[in-house]
Amino acid sequence: MSKFVIEGGTRLKGKVNIGGFKNAAVAIIPATLLCPGKCIIENVPKIQDVKVFLEILRELGAEAGYINDTSLYVDATNVKNCFLENGLSKKMRASYYLLGAGLGRFNSASSLMPGGCDIGDRPIDQHIKGFEALGAKVEITPNGRIHVRAEKLTGAKVYLDVVSVGATINIMLAAVYAEGKTIIENAAKEPHIVDTANFLNSMGADIKGAGTDVIRINGVKNLKGCTYKVIPDQIEAGTYMIAAAATKGDIIIDDIIPKHMEPITAKLKEMGMGIEEYGDSMRVYYEDELVPVNVQTLPYPGFPTDLQQPMTVLLSSLKGESTVVEGVSEDRFKYVDELKKMGACIEFTKKQAKIKGRNNLRGTVVQATDLRAGAALIIAGLIANGLTEVRNIEHIDRGYEHIENKFMNLGAKIKRVRDE
Ligand code: EPZ
Repeated sequence: MSKFVIEGGTRLKGKVNIGGFKNAAVAIIPATLLCPGKCIIENVPKIQDVKVFLEILRELGAEAGYINDTSLYVDATNVKNCFLENGLSKKMRASYYLLGAGLGRFNSASSLMPGGCDIGDRPIDQHIKGFEALGAKVEITPNGRIHVRAEKLTGAKVYLDVVSVGATINIMLAAVYAEGKTIIENAAKEPHIVDTANFLNSMGADIKGAGTDVIRINGVKNLKGCTYKVIPDQIEAGTYMIAAAATKGDIIIDDIIPKHMEPITAKLKEMGMGIEEYGDSMRVYYEDELVPVNVQTLPYPGFPTDLQQPMTVLLSSLKGESTVVEGVSEDRFKYVDELKKMGACIEFTKKQAKIKGRNNLRGTVVQATDLRAGAALIIAGLIANGLTEVRNIEHIDRGYEHIENKFMNLGAKIKRVRDE
């Protein structure tokens, strides 16, 4: 077990390179199961969730591994079924994509219910609704194992009751070979939905409309291996943008798609941050005292729920009051108790936080309660007086590549220390 020890008080300066999008990579990697052939996936972040997925694919009989630091290969030719017998699926949320991919390729799949961040109740009823519409039977056993199977998959119209990233992708995976046309209405529009659809199309699928709320999938007979490059991580980039604002810094964020950053760029500008956009990079710089703003998280193109926690830290460091409303996750303010230990003045319910600033945070020992909460606590440590110890950092390693090195390169005083 390791922890991060952070000495606060440094303004971030310099350049940070952003890696491939975690939430796209963890959809594209299982999507390779759909094709009997070799896929090469480039710009993949070297994070724990990706390593676990490679283990899962090998467990299912695929050949899979890293080619270099950022590229990996998967050859699922010899995979015979998608029944994951062990508990690896409990290690992350995205393991639910095994169900869609297995259903698509083999007409059946089985795994334990997915794990992932504890951010409230995270049902998968919309995934199931989609699978059933295509003709599958879904059974969940009392010990939490899900079985999906179909005699035959036939295209259908699915209206999602909730805008769900996971359900949208899972239905696309299940429908690529389904006979006829599948239409997903009220689909999620996140950049990683588009990226996954682009990957599937590169393998030979026929998917149109990804990035809008109606996605049309014409079933195809065959898919073939391909080489594909994952898009930059919108949430990793947003984390460094917010860290720059919180530390009154001046940084260049490189290897990004500025368009994907708009919901964050707009809020930071409203607060008074300077932002200059270039082709695939941006400069984020502090000019003058920032003003507090209200934030509501929403599905894309709204402000992302995955940046709610870092944003709350930033707002608590500003003079004045602000409100953060969580419009996506069911219960994503648990980490606020840790921030309060550092001196933050925040009242919260499951859905809303009322922040009274300015809080001069002080360093202490805090626990990362989930991935983005961990990133938020690092930012809190960067602006706190004294030393902050962030524990349970295995949550952070699930989704951020070399986070301490990237912060160190920006001048932060942060080190990874092995716990005794
Ligand atoms: C994805 O989770 C991401 N995870 C999450 O990122 C992210 O917070 C979330 O999308 C929202 O953007 C991955 O991509 C692996 P949803 P997912 O289905 O697919 C409700 C991170 O920090 N819902 O879009 O689980 C659900 O309860 C992680 O990187 C249903 O009610 O999210 C939630 O309130 C954390 N029924 C809302 O919809 C369903 O069947 C959005 O969930 C599915 C979802």
